[in-house]
Amino acid sequence: MRKRNITILIIDDEPNVCSSLQGILEDEGYTTYAAQSGEEGLKQLAQRDANIVLLDILMPGGMDGIETLRRIKNDYPDVGVIMITGHGTYEYALEAGKLGALDFIEKPLSIDKVLTRIEQALEKMRLEAENVQLKRETEERYRLIGESSAMQEIKKTIARVAPTKGRVLITGESGTGKELVARAIHNQSLRSDGLFVPVNCAAIPQELIEAELFGHERGAFTGATYRRIGKFEQADGGTIFLDEIGNMSLQTQAKVLRAIETQEFERIGGKNTIKVDNRIIAATNKDLDAEIKEGHFREDLYYRLNVIPIDIPPLRRRKKDIPLLAEHFLVQFCRENNKPKKQLSKEAMKILERYSWPGNVRELRNIIERLVIMSRGDVIEVDDLPQDLEETMTHGTPGSLRDARRQFESNFIRQSLDNNNWNIAETARQLGIERTNLYRKMRQYSISRGE
Ligand SMILES: Nc1ncnc2c1ncn2[C@@H]1O[C@H](COP(=O)(O)OP(=O)(O)OP(=O)(O)O)[C@@H](O)[C@H]1O
Ligand SMILES: [Mg+2]
Repeated sequence: MRKRNITILIIDDEPNVCSSLQGILEDEGYTTYAAQSGEEGLKQLAQRDANIVLLDILMPGGMDGIETLRRIKNDYPDVGVIMITGHGTYEYALEAGKLGALDFIEKPLSIDKVLTRIEQALEKMRLEAENVQLKRETEERYRLIGESSAMQEIKKTIARVAPTKGRVLITGESGTGKELVARAIHNQSLRSDGLFVPVNCAAIPQELIEAELFGHERGAFTGATYRRIGKFEQADGGTIFLDEIGNMSLQTQAKVLRAIETQEFERIGGKNTIKVDNRIIAATNKDLDAEIKEGHFREDLYYRLNVIPIDIPPLRRRKKDIPLLAEHFLVQFCRENNKPKKQLSKEAMKILERYSWPGNVRELRNIIERLVIMSRGDVIEVDDLPQDLEETMTHGTPGSLRDARRQFESNFIRQSLDNNNWNIAETARQLGIERTNLYRKMRQYSISRGE
């Protein structure tokens, strides 16, 4: 059935070859048409679509198969071209491969050969189209929005460092986009075909983090019932993203330092040294200078990781980005929720621009998602905004004591959660508040363990 939608153009100077191929293919349900020269083939292609062109590599007269292929690929890059090759055309075939021919069928042609090669070519084209689509979606999902001068600088730095192997340390408050920047570096690098492997050093209990990073052999410790490949190994050929590095124990830091310096390590309980080639990007929302002074972070590791620093300013210091981000998230969430595109009223947007965003871009994203789902009309009005934001309009001015207090509270809670490995009961006790209260504040400031 599917074949009915597939059209094949045959270009061969021998009319017999054309008509017998047409016969075979039409019997299979393909639609076909034919041309006896490159020039004519191109003329026909201009009038009528084709999914696949079967192209004779040697044709007497003006335009040979290679030149025809070049023109087809230039004008119709999505059309798949299969070359028909004969005796002694090896060198041409090489050239055709470079020019983007999908496959080659050698003469003499047999029904079987022709049909299987076409099927394979179609499958290859389908996979390629899927890959392109996936790549486009990924790029869209991880696109960095923002035209503030800070964001422009960051984008420039990303473009400059991406093709290198330079280690990057990304700093910035929670929710400013550190992971997104790390992904952008990976996606624009020469290793983008490799994996981007994030490790959240704050979310993994200290006693497990080494196994997570370096893997372990079967029987390495109680409970190690199988061999496990660690993140450093998974990221071979790609990028490992060490997130929240400020939370690593000194012991782990020593091991990471060695792995970085030598690009070598052993799995826990393993004897073999494993060599990997990966790029390291690290991020933290802690002030590592202070951590070093207090003896919590190794200075030598800091210098190894911090070859190229990227500091992402909090959203309140790049207000220019707020409308752009808000619009971006509106488009995204309306699409995801199958809603017609909504808008923010001028006044509502003004409030968003004034608000201090202690949870930065993540908080803005969450609020827009909620607004898209909850607001009734096509225009989101001031009344639709969460109370906190509305109050900003009436009471708060940028830089007010209230903002500062909220900022401090949000950071302090996050810090405490980090210190307690995100154990809510433990953190609530330490902070001297009820658990429900802690949950409420986490929601309010969009504090979560990371995505
Ligand atoms: N410039 C931006 N453009 C588009 N989306 C962004 C931007 N910055 C952040 N985001 C989005 O905001 C959310 C938070 O970003 P991200 O996870 O990268 O922040 P983070 O700095 O790693 O935060 P945390 O310290 O909490 O881990 C993500 O959904 C991300 O896609
Ligand atoms: Mg993060």
